[in-house]
Amino acid sequence: MTALRWLNVATETAREAGALLKAQWSRPHTVHSKGYRDIVTESDLAAEQLILSRLRAAFPDHAITSEEAGADAGDARVRWLIDPLDGTTNFAHHNPNFCVSIAAAENGRPVVGVIYDPLRDELFAARRGGGATFNGAPLRTSGATALDTVTFSADWPREPALRADMWRRAGTLLPLVRTLRCLGSAALNMVYVAAGRLDLYMARTLSPWDQGAAALIVQEAGGVLGTLAGVPWTLARPDPVAAATPALLAAFHAVSRENHQ
Ligand code: 2AM
Ligand code: CA
Repeated sequence: MTALRWLNVATETAREAGALLKAQWSRPHTVHSKGYRDIVTESDLAAEQLILSRLRAAFPDHAITSEEAGADAGDARVRWLIDPLDGTTNFAHHNPNFCVSIAAAENGRPVVGVIYDPLRDELFAARRGGGATFNGAPLRTSGATALDTVTFSADWPREPALRADMWRRAGTLLPLVRTLRCLGSAALNMVYVAAGRLDLYMARTLSPWDQGAAALIVQEAGGVLGTLAGVPWTLARPDPVAAATPALLAAFHAVSRENHQ
């Protein structure tokens, strides 16, 4: 019952923040640099303020970590993980692949996750143990088990050496799979694995707010999470691998072990 309420508030809030982004995305943006190859727009901040105010009003005892605002102090049992706009570079270039990501984690594990793509009006959601949904209907991965049928995606680190490593990893995989598609939104890439639109996704510089909601949706849709390093996935890992099935993750790791450290 409790997690159900969290899911309902997260869904309502993601839809509201998504409507704000939808209204602003085709207009000219004010783009600020916040680091090397890293930008933020006025819309990231406006959507974040909206989400923070809704969650603080609904759950005054919970903690919040949000990409632009940072983390609340304290060790509340429940921590919300928010990316108000995942895919900022796309948004800033008027590319439609972006979304809102809201997760609640209990003792460091995601228990509720919502991803909302406002331009397509697509809502991906999950509650731990309660399954994953796409606009209210049950969500399942593709079930792919072998690399030769796979469409995979990746995100690209900003730092040159990490980017080069990712490029090599993608280059190892590409001859073995059907093809490669990259959306430019980590959360959308991951929930597309949950939805069977992609079979495999890898990244190596993600933060908890990038992956908390989408990771739970992948797991509840029958997919699995691993890491590039081959150690178990946790929210704190920067290098998630999302796969449609355990067999596909094993096939990926076999190729990885042979070709990469
Ligand atoms: P953002 O849009 O919220 O910044 C793009 O490669 C995707 O990966 C986006 O979802 C982006 O999130 C995310 N990402 C997070 N950390 C990143 C990093 N250090 N370098 C590149 N992309 C990152
Ligand atoms: Ca963001």
